[in-house]
Amino acid sequence: MCGIVGYIGKRDVAPLLLEGLQRLEYRGYDSAGIVITSPKAAGLKMVKAKGRVRDLEARVPKRFTGTTGIAHTRWATHGAPSDINSHPHLDPENKVAVVHNGIVDNAQELRAKLEADGVVFASETDTEVITHLIARSQATSLEEKVREALKVIEGTYGIAVMHADFNDRIVVARNGSPVVLGIGEKEMFVASDVAALIAHTRQVVTLDDGEMATLKADDFRTYTTSGATTTATPETVEWEAASYDMGGHDTYMHKEISEQPDAVDRVLRGRIDDRFSTVHLGGLNLDAREARTIRRIKILGCGTSYHAGLIGAGLIESMARIPADAEPASEFRYRNPVVDPDTLYIAVSQSGETYDVLAAVQELKRKGARVLGVVNVVGSAIAREADGGVYVHAGPEVCVVSTKCFTNTVVAFALLALHLGRIRDLSVTDGKRIIEGLRKLPAQISEILESEEEIKKLAEQYAGAQSMMFIGRVRGYPVALEASLKLKEISYIHAEAYPASELKHGPLALIEPALPTVAIVPNDDLLEKNRAALEEIKARSGRILAVAHQPQEKADHTIVVPKNEDELDPILMGIPLQLFAYHTALAMGRDIDKPRNLAKSVTVE
Ligand code: F6R
Repeated sequence: MCGIVGYIGKRDVAPLLLEGLQRLEYRGYDSAGIVITSPKAAGLKMVKAKGRVRDLEARVPKRFTGTTGIAHTRWATHGAPSDINSHPHLDPENKVAVVHNGIVDNAQELRAKLEADGVVFASETDTEVITHLIARSQATSLEEKVREALKVIEGTYGIAVMHADFNDRIVVARNGSPVVLGIGEKEMFVASDVAALIAHTRQVVTLDDGEMATLKADDFRTYTTSGATTTATPETVEWEAASYDMGGHDTYMHKEISEQPDAVDRVLRGRIDDRFSTVHLGGLNLDAREARTIRRIKILGCGTSYHAGLIGAGLIESMARIPADAEPASEFRYRNPVVDPDTLYIAVSQSGETYDVLAAVQELKRKGARVLGVVNVVGSAIAREADGGVYVHAGPEVCVVSTKCFTNTVVAFALLALHLGRIRDLSVTDGKRIIEGLRKLPAQISEILESEEEIKKLAEQYAGAQSMMFIGRVRGYPVALEASLKLKEISYIHAEAYPASELKHGPLALIEPALPTVAIVPNDDLLEKNRAALEEIKARSGRILAVAHQPQEKADHTIVVPKNEDELDPILMGIPLQLFAYHTALAMGRDIDKPRNLAKSVTVE
């Protein structure tokens, strides 16, 4: 949420930062800005613009040259998207420039104090408070000025600061919002995620909360907000720069949907142990003896990851026979939950940054719970905070709405369920059966993707609907939840998901010819029950699109998907509905990769 990129070195900085902003735009896209300088320059030069990075680019004048700069793409929290509210924020003397991700919780109070001292604010943002505090500090170094300002700030931040009087450096700090340093040859980068750096360097240092850094062209150092030096050993990023390109697709979402066979192959690779019909999960940090003592599993995540967690809980219950459930992390941490020593907590997050999930993990750890992470981004905050976990290896996901990460997360849960199951009561025969099912997934996903044309035609027929109902039972219900979320996020069609069993307890009142229902109808022990729900809808003249293993008589249309093991069917049944949401939104002319009001990586509460 919000993207920061900065550079100090010898290269012409503006094109470099604009390119970095393009790569970060999925983190926020309502306004953007850039400030630059160079060792010989007399001050800071800034351009800001409401809108997308391309709007900013159009405003950058021809002779906008420099070798040091910071830039930002915004997702508004305090103050509407506008030129003036865009970052960077400068002080009235144009000496200090700040870009900020996160929220200053005590901004109102600090603003009132500063205004009482005669400070005039230009914007409505919380960030401008930080700028004025740094500008008014009497300290003699930039590091000390920033440190003094941060002492009075409450809230979350990832900041990068430039100062006209200290133009040989950029000072950065982190508390709750990611800051990654990119280490180059006589040049240094900073960004809110590696997407902006990877075309230039693979060597990165991820700051911890409470850490700061000073970047100079040929040197960097890290230290705590109280001034103590910290050790920072650069790590090599494994993701390829090419993974951030569109690769011939019209949208990232389409590219990411089509990458799923490979992505699933990756999450399975090297983990299956045929000899014992189980899987190896290297980073779990949970031995067999400990695994046997777990009495409950509680999975916490937000949005799509929460839905993946719901499927994960079902997989764990059915394979490992451990009571498991999932809950939105955002709700969990505010209900003063009973933290039970025999419960294993699992935080699930593709970005590994989601504030609500991170805060829940921190609260759990504080209370002594054991927390595992199911995370995509290696080394992200949640991955680092957890006691162990499973990486989902989906590769970078750029589209704001999640597709391949969702699928890989569910597969990662299937691996975890199999692992726990084989330590407990799952037989060798059942272990083998699940492994065979897992191995079939990539080819079966490819088979589903081949029906894209057919799904597109269906989507075009449903694109005029005002609202849609999604139903499923037990394993199918989280699939319905996720499919309805995907549709509403990118098409803006109102969609509701219900357990099919609940229809007659209320939502059946909505059914009429204008409200289509998408029904998840797997060929499992609940097939007849699901068919009964289709009958109920048909009897009220409702239109039905079924996702099933064979054509459904009561449905107007059926998308037929290949059958896997009952436990693994939800993984496949969600995939045609990603394409359905995609083509519905496309038919409606939506901006698919950047849906209105949303941004990826929700690092604020
Ligand atoms: C929806 C979507 C979001 C995220 C949610 C949590 O398509 O992507 O619902 O799943 O914001 O994000 P992560 O998984 O990064 O914790």
